[in-house]
Amino acid sequence: MASTKFKSLKGMPDILPEDVWKWQYIESSVRNVFRQFNYTELRTPILESLDLFQRSIGQETDIVQKEMFQFQDRGQRNVVLRPEVTASVVRAYIEHQLAVDKLFYIGASFRAERPQAGRFRQFHQIGAEFIGAKGAEDDVAILALMQGLLMGLGLKDYVLEINSLGCKESRAGYRKKLKDYLQSYISNMSEDSQRRIETNVIRVLDSKDPRDQEIIKKAPSILESLLPKSKEHLEQVKEILEQRNIPYRINTKIVRGLDYYNDIVYEITHPALGAQNAIGAGGRYDSLVGELGGSKDCGACGFALGIERLIVALEGDGVWGQNQFQNALVYMCVFGDSPDIKKKALEIQSELRKDNFSVEEISFKEVKMKKHFQRADRLNARVVILQGEDEFKEGQVSIKDMKTGTQEKVQYDSIKKVLKGILT
Ligand code: HAM
Repeated sequence: MASTKFKSLKGMPDILPEDVWKWQYIESSVRNVFRQFNYTELRTPILESLDLFQRSIGQETDIVQKEMFQFQDRGQRNVVLRPEVTASVVRAYIEHQLAVDKLFYIGASFRAERPQAGRFRQFHQIGAEFIGAKGAEDDVAILALMQGLLMGLGLKDYVLEINSLGCKESRAGYRKKLKDYLQSYISNMSEDSQRRIETNVIRVLDSKDPRDQEIIKKAPSILESLLPKSKEHLEQVKEILEQRNIPYRINTKIVRGLDYYNDIVYEITHPALGAQNAIGAGGRYDSLVGELGGSKDCGACGFALGIERLIVALEGDGVWGQNQFQNALVYMCVFGDSPDIKKKALEIQSELRKDNFSVEEISFKEVKMKKHFQRADRLNARVVILQGEDEFKEGQVSIKDMKTGTQEKVQYDSIKKVLKGILT
């Protein structure tokens, strides 16, 4: 690789032309499914005020404590590159008193985490928020949307895992119970978990450190501390998931890294990913709208899928092999000096573009057939159209299918039909 003076920042990779078609495939597929489910797009700014995320995600979370890109702007305002989008959606919903309550977004978020496989500092999410969602039916409705998105993409091997965090009161009881249990093992635990026992004890359950694993396995389950209302809510969600044929597993260790959740939370994992195996996550967040200045009893739930991780998961399920979203490029080469030939070729080029074909600009500088074909190969052209003097006299072109290698002469008025036959 050439050594260059300027490089993209750590954990913030470029999305290169050879990969961008996968992003376009994902974006276009999910947009279509969002339309089917009547979700409307909302685009919020990348830069937001610091307190929006302190208030919503929670002061004691890793994101707020150490992962936000935060700074003072020229007007001495404390701002951050958004670490997630849910808080921004809720802010915009309240600020503009939106009438639409089913919203989706596609865009970048930023977290100053240690980069590793599947973990970036700039990453991209596809998310959906259902503001005003109440009751178990709405929790499952948004999970059905998530299933629709994943199935629409062709993903097969994913697992949906569900837990309930209950309400604030039951969580307080659970915190105490968990703390009592963990205290007796504290000296054998990782430094991170030792610290979390004091600051955010439930997050200890999320630890991947081998020193913590055995201890966590035997920890009391959060489900045992649920108050009757939350217990019933979880039971209803399970029942409706079964009615709607949405496969799931209960995983009592899902605790989430953001503080705004209550009751149902979930993660979607895929075996193609390594340690960072969550392709998406979400849950219910009933108090956030009230917390940010909106109506107090406005329920809500939502999820976000990570695009970088989806790309790896789709690779694991063999989707990229079958999918040819790449541009089906037509490459035209013209031989002969006659201005009439050039004029006709330009006419064909323009007609094909009008009919939505993707056509590389004709290069009249090149005269050697071999050079043209080398260029067509480099551009990954699917079809080459040749216009020479002989063909021109007969009102024809030659069309070469670059995949099969077959070539045929075609009358001008049949060019589009033959191209469509090859390209579809
Ligand atoms: P989250 O679990 O922080 O939740 O992120 C959701 C997904 O974004 C993760 O499952 C993962 O696929 C992707 N992701 C997160 N951080 C990174 C990273 N550093 N690099 C690559 N991918 C990453 C939220 O953000 C919530 N706002 C989800 C939500 C929406 N809850 C309710 N509504």
